[in-house]
Amino acid sequence: MDTRPAHDGHPYEEDRSPGHGTLPARVWYAASDAARLSLNGTWAFRLSDTAEGTGTAFTEDTADLSDWARVRVPGHWVLQGHGAPAYTNIVYPIPVDPPRVPTENPTGDHRLDFDLPGDWPQDGETLLRFEGVDSCARVWLNGHELGWFTGSRLPHEFAVGHLLRPRGNVLAVRVHQWSAGSYLEDQDMWWLPGIFRDVTLLHRPDGAPCDFFVHAGYDHLTGRGTLRVACDVAGRILVPELGLDVRVGEETSAPVEPWSAESPRLYHGELITAGERVPLRIGFRTVRVENGVFTANGRRILFRGVNRHEFHPETGRAVDLETMRRDVLLMKRHNINAVRTSHYPPHPAFLDLCDELGLWVIDEADLETHGFCYFPDWRGNPVADERWTPALIDRARRMVERDKNHPSVVIWSLGNECGAGQGLSAMAAWIRERDPSRPLHYENDYSYRDSDFYSRMYAPHDEVEAIGRGEEQPLEDPEADARRRSLPLLLVEYAHAMGNGPGGLADYQRLFETYERCQGGFVWEWIDHGLPKRTADGRPYYAYGGDFGEDVHDGNFVCDGLLFPDRSPSPGLIEYKKVIEPVRITGDSAAGTITVTNRHDFSALDHLSFTWAFEVEGEETATGTLAVPSLDPGTSAVVPLPDPPHARAGEAVWTIRAGLRADTPWAPRGHLVAWAQLPARPRPLPERPAVLLPPLAEAGNIHLGPAVFHATTGELRSLNGLDLRQGPRLDVWRAPTDNDLGGPWLGDARLAMRWRKLGLHRLQHRVDSISTADRALTVRTRVAPAATDLGLYAAYHWSADDERLLLTVTVTPDGEWPVPLPRLGLLLGLPASCDHATWYGGGPGEAYPDTRAASRLGRYSMNVDDMQTPYVRPQENGARPDVRWAELCAAGGPGLRVTAGDAPFWFTARRWSDVQLDAARHTTDLEPGDTVWVHLDRSVQGIGTESCGPGPLPQYRLTVAPTTFSLVLTAPGAN
Ligand code: GAL
Repeated sequence: MDTRPAHDGHPYEEDRSPGHGTLPARVWYAASDAARLSLNGTWAFRLSDTAEGTGTAFTEDTADLSDWARVRVPGHWVLQGHGAPAYTNIVYPIPVDPPRVPTENPTGDHRLDFDLPGDWPQDGETLLRFEGVDSCARVWLNGHELGWFTGSRLPHEFAVGHLLRPRGNVLAVRVHQWSAGSYLEDQDMWWLPGIFRDVTLLHRPDGAPCDFFVHAGYDHLTGRGTLRVACDVAGRILVPELGLDVRVGEETSAPVEPWSAESPRLYHGELITAGERVPLRIGFRTVRVENGVFTANGRRILFRGVNRHEFHPETGRAVDLETMRRDVLLMKRHNINAVRTSHYPPHPAFLDLCDELGLWVIDEADLETHGFCYFPDWRGNPVADERWTPALIDRARRMVERDKNHPSVVIWSLGNECGAGQGLSAMAAWIRERDPSRPLHYENDYSYRDSDFYSRMYAPHDEVEAIGRGEEQPLEDPEADARRRSLPLLLVEYAHAMGNGPGGLADYQRLFETYERCQGGFVWEWIDHGLPKRTADGRPYYAYGGDFGEDVHDGNFVCDGLLFPDRSPSPGLIEYKKVIEPVRITGDSAAGTITVTNRHDFSALDHLSFTWAFEVEGEETATGTLAVPSLDPGTSAVVPLPDPPHARAGEAVWTIRAGLRADTPWAPRGHLVAWAQLPARPRPLPERPAVLLPPLAEAGNIHLGPAVFHATTGELRSLNGLDLRQGPRLDVWRAPTDNDLGGPWLGDARLAMRWRKLGLHRLQHRVDSISTADRALTVRTRVAPAATDLGLYAAYHWSADDERLLLTVTVTPDGEWPVPLPRLGLLLGLPASCDHATWYGGGPGEAYPDTRAASRLGRYSMNVDDMQTPYVRPQENGARPDVRWAELCAAGGPGLRVTAGDAPFWFTARRWSDVQLDAARHTTDLEPGDTVWVHLDRSVQGIGTESCGPGPLPQYRLTVAPTTFSLVLTAPGAN
């Protein structure tokens, strides 16, 4: 029998209202002198297929739980062996019929039996608090039903003092995966039901506050902070460091150091009431949108931000404190200064870390209804249907009340991608009334009536520039247009970090640094949400949408972060760190000077020490320190370099580094914050051999110096005794990146589709002529895919002395090529034993034309395996730019050295072919073969961010054109 409470004829989980029986929203704080008891731990668990569950007898003391399973709370049952996770981006994975949900509604009954500690106080009240349950919970304590709630990533409390007993308490929680609330939580992430945040009993002594609001502003003109703490009970506020002792509600002021993300100065205080003493951490700061600019403490700031979903590969959105801290430390160490809590309020402790370590936060309400965008005019959209308004306001209220005392929270966001509707305005009105001290953000209503920002997602560079200049396309409604023109621009999402990329970060940053109105952005997103799985034979890999048998899913769109699932930084994060570095170093080595520009918003440069190194062909020959004056933000100084040290001949560069002068709470002394390289001496080009040797034909081969060629194909077979598996030949293909593949909505216009249609992955090489002249071998070919009359003539011109083989390749297009090429260069195959790479060029990580800011000229050495970037969905990766020479050798054995002719090349080596790379769905599909495949590219196509956003800018596209390049092939160690 269904005993579920019903509303309007529907059971509670299909009710649009936010819940029943819960207490009003209020503040969260980590600690006080009032007793609290964590109920986290191992709970009994039973999964049912429908919301009816298997009766409600489990809520009784006497229930027999002998056949129940156990789960970890906080946790998600689908990650603990019960049911399966599912991933969709925009579409709802259930039939859309709000507020109804499917009968098949995985329902997890949870039960914890617990005793109170012996000293649990008898007076006052006790609250049972849930920090997050996905998506709808009905709760009983000791057989009494307390109520139910939705709002997965929000706190919900019940008063339970009258029900508690010293021993043998029985807490029963029924959790439904699907509820009316699910329609408000379509947030592009795994659907993960469960009690995934803390459950706590909070003692509320008589006379303890229910709620308090710390108002701490900063007047940058006077340098004074103002403080007023509103509270529902009388009390005092002490801030010993400031000598403050004031009453609740009383405003006071004192000279203070302000709080900012750069200098997160917190003053320790205390709220003392009759019933409770609550420690306070007060950060004085004032934020505003004034004259079209967002300011903090009177200064324009630039957001170098990232969008953070909560994610841990083992525990999903149940993220432990250590992981949260690690996220903040990683952000700080990569020069990130802001985080948007997409698309819901995070675990509240995360905001404590942001207060303490310094990040600007956009705190976002737990709300997205994107799946309605597929219906005409977003038909059925809850934010445009007033029956949902109480639930929407509840979501705004629970966020604001919980998080209002964090100085790091500087902007409230109404939610993500809900289209437009009066429900959003109702939320905005409620928030503006409750907290007029923080601006509001909302992106998806292009009238921006409820937003203090002109907020855009994935806007291409030219649009950002137009907005920066105030030359945006006008809105139809002049009033709305005028309002939008008065707002600062925020790229609340940009640079989609899916797979290889994002490209074009440096070009965005230039715009942010040029136009006052462009106040930076938030890269999408922080971490790949790959879930660990194993192949049948036990090899681990990260799974994505579709890997759990979902009927409807969005594949690897869930892996679009700057961190890999294990939280190791991707090349995208290394690039972002460089692009947003808060100190810019440029130079003029001819003049012997560098220019240092302080791009911090508040800090001078006293916390950094500057060093120089003089490097010849990647080897440091001398180092020293640089005296850089302490510069105010926004100012520059010209600093002399020392005289170039005496060093051996060869190409030389200055490398300038700015590192932390002392330990900070977020990184140790010496941590690198910014750097630059300046050329000091150019690279000498390889010398032409004095004597060239003649080619000699012999037994089906052509011998030329140290090389042997196939007489009928013209292919290089061996060099200095090293047999090649494939001689160098023209190649233009790459295993498409997620950005080459583009967003699915782009259809056939996507680059990778056009490449594949043209057949760039199946080139044929026709040998037109092999000619031996006096002292050279020339092989002329035409390279083209089947079924097209487009082609590329490639002529290989070989010459040699005793040791060196010289190659000049001339490429001439045949026909008008309508697409840029993935790459243009040579592909060759070496025996698998030649797996150790050493190169002098860009590194240490991969780079592409529009992702190369972080690439540093140096000498690097690593195994071919370590040159691979393990994108969760395998794709083109691992190119090293600007390579002057590269070697691939077997341990103690033979190998090959390739030296650039007049222009450096792009160097890529891997143990599988591009065809294998292209076919792989997961990293475990890549199996090393008998060949190390080596690309030596003259040019490669940029990356862009078209998986969601613009493709590569024109200057990074590999347009087909006549090209000549040359290389020198020798044994390792030779020159
Ligand atoms: C945005 C959305 C994000 C994410 C991103 C693409 O439209 O707000 O949640 O889906 O696109 O990964």
